[in-house]
Amino acid sequence: MASIRDVAEHAGVSIATVSHVLNGTRKVADSTRKQVEEAFVVLNYRPNRIARSLRTSVNHTIGMVIPDHANPFFAETARGVEDAAFEKGYGVLLCNSDGSVDKENRYGESLIESMVSGVVLISTGLTSKLVDEMQRRNIPVVVVDRELPRTDVDAVLPEHFDGAVAATELLLQLGHTRIGCISSAAGVLAADERLRGFRQAMSGAGATEMVVEGDFQYEGGYLAAQQILRSSAPPTAIFACNDLMAIGALRVAKEEGLDVPGDLSIVGFDNIAAARFTNPALTTVAQPVQQIGSLATELLIRRIGDPSLPTERRTVTTELVERESTGSVPQ
Ligand code: RIB
Repeated sequence: MASIRDVAEHAGVSIATVSHVLNGTRKVADSTRKQVEEAFVVLNYRPNRIARSLRTSVNHTIGMVIPDHANPFFAETARGVEDAAFEKGYGVLLCNSDGSVDKENRYGESLIESMVSGVVLISTGLTSKLVDEMQRRNIPVVVVDRELPRTDVDAVLPEHFDGAVAATELLLQLGHTRIGCISSAAGVLAADERLRGFRQAMSGAGATEMVVEGDFQYEGGYLAAQQILRSSAPPTAIFACNDLMAIGALRVAKEEGLDVPGDLSIVGFDNIAAARFTNPALTTVAQPVQQIGSLATELLIRRIGDPSLPTERRTVTTELVERESTGSVPQ
């Protein structure tokens, strides 16, 4: 592999000149720049990002760990981070923990070895070990979406509770008095807050609830909806704590011969891109993933620049998006 020295010799310039062309750290005459850039092509030169960062003490790479890159919510949020990071001259190393604490921690070690400048973390929600390790090494971390108790770290947190209240209140206003909730992994604050919001809205409404735990996946939503709709006095509406589980519930309604929303109303949470295209289109609680991603990146790069800044905890509003999957209680 060609080195920076090979490029300098080929172009007939000093190594410092090649470095100035690479990093834009000093103006170089057009003719000289042309010679150096031709040498890059001829020698197929690839600058060593880590070697360069050792000299400049800033590795323009950030790490991001998410629980499930197959879930559009996480993928779309990661896209928001990557777009914002790229604009600031940073690359992103994306790691999928698969919801496993062990994998999350192993990726944490790998990112430390890769000398990333900082980490954006959407955690499994069950441990703060990765955050603790990064803080022990003075590597900036921003927690997104799933707050971790007892951590003093920058965070971007959607209004999970308020979003769940809004979703449930919509169903109550439509006249539903038997409402199911497909919750998710107990212990994950985001999920717990949505269940708390559902129960808050239901309390005092004179309505009957039926809660079945899912797993934030299509299959978990499908199985939970089967359990709900096959109960003795099935609800006429379901609030699912994320869109994948709501889509699973739409499938069960179809298989059970139930019209949505004529016989059954369904609300999700996230507003993933697919929510507009389900049949019927899904009513859901929108999380502004682009804003979440860019805000997380902004906070992280700010902290990379000045680790002494006070911790920032930003809340992002969620918004109920009414579509076709909700309607008045069946008469
Ligand atoms: O769809 C995955 C869910 O887990 C989202 O609602 C997100 O908030 C995350 O916590």
